[in-house]
Amino acid sequence: MKIRVILAGATGRMGREIGRAIAQQPDLTLTAAVALDGHGRDVGEFLGLGPLGVKIVGRVEEALASAPAEVLVDFTAPDAGGRHALCAARAGVSPVVGTTGIEPSELEELEELCLRSRLGAVVVPNFSLGAYLLGRLAEQAVRYLPACEIVEMHHQAKRDAPSGTARRLAQGLGRGGRPVPVHSVRLPGLMAHHWVIFGGDGETLTIAHDTLSRSCYVPGVLAAVRRVRGLKRMVTDLGEVLDWEPA
Ligand SMILES: NC(=O)c1ccc[n+]([C@@H]2O[C@H](COP(=O)([O-])OP(=O)(O)OC[C@H]3O[C@@H](n4cnc5c(N)ncnc54)[C@H](OP(=O)(O)O)[C@@H]3O)[C@@H](O)[C@H]2O)c1
Repeated sequence: MKIRVILAGATGRMGREIGRAIAQQPDLTLTAAVALDGHGRDVGEFLGLGPLGVKIVGRVEEALASAPAEVLVDFTAPDAGGRHALCAARAGVSPVVGTTGIEPSELEELEELCLRSRLGAVVVPNFSLGAYLLGRLAEQAVRYLPACEIVEMHHQAKRDAPSGTARRLAQGLGRGGRPVPVHSVRLPGLMAHHWVIFGGDGETLTIAHDTLSRSCYVPGVLAAVRRVRGLKRMVTDLGEVLDWEPA
């Protein structure tokens, strides 16, 4: 049976990329689409696929009440993503959340709710495989070169700073209570770029990840949609939903 998916943020930059991919998978089906604007219009128009028979609605609650689903995928905004994930979890629908900048208290509530109800949820600030590997490689490097700083650069429309990915990297690389400094740049022309710069005696090491197209997020999100129901708790590490075991 196909996995039925509600997509929140369907008309956005990420929502369009992910919506197109979901609509093209034989084992997945879009049952509802949510956005602030475009109510009543067929989501296929926004995805460049022609009519899909799925009309856009304005609220996640409306989608959950009217469309059957196993999974809610959310790429919306910091002030909406946490509420959407909680609404889905209360309705027994597994959230896959890409939205960044969500209040930690909302994520704690989601984690507790998922544990109590043995519901799978995935909350990952960066679904790209390369960004995941950046984190793994940086964890190796910091053992030898503990002095490091993070530079994150994004397009000027990104609402949260530092990025969720940079926050996660900084948490993972901090040593002995020393916070890792993060520098944020917001400029037109950029997409999403994360560099970790390590300084040693007479040398530096830079590990850099550059997003060239939003298509890089698709395999991670699809893996999460396919695996989330089997998790029975909230996970925040992309490694837990990927096919392969990191070495
Ligand atoms: N985890 C990852 O790998 C990853 C990768 C890239 C981006 N992100 C994050 O994903 C999020 C979305 O990014 P984006 O660039 O796609 O943003 P975007 O282009 O601004 O799209 C946001 C979408 O969410 C909708 N929306 C916003 N607030 C809403 C609300 N309260 N209720 C319902 N729908 C709402 C918007 O609808 P309207 O257009 O009608 O306003 C639009 O469809 C951001 O938090 C970003 O940081 C995560």
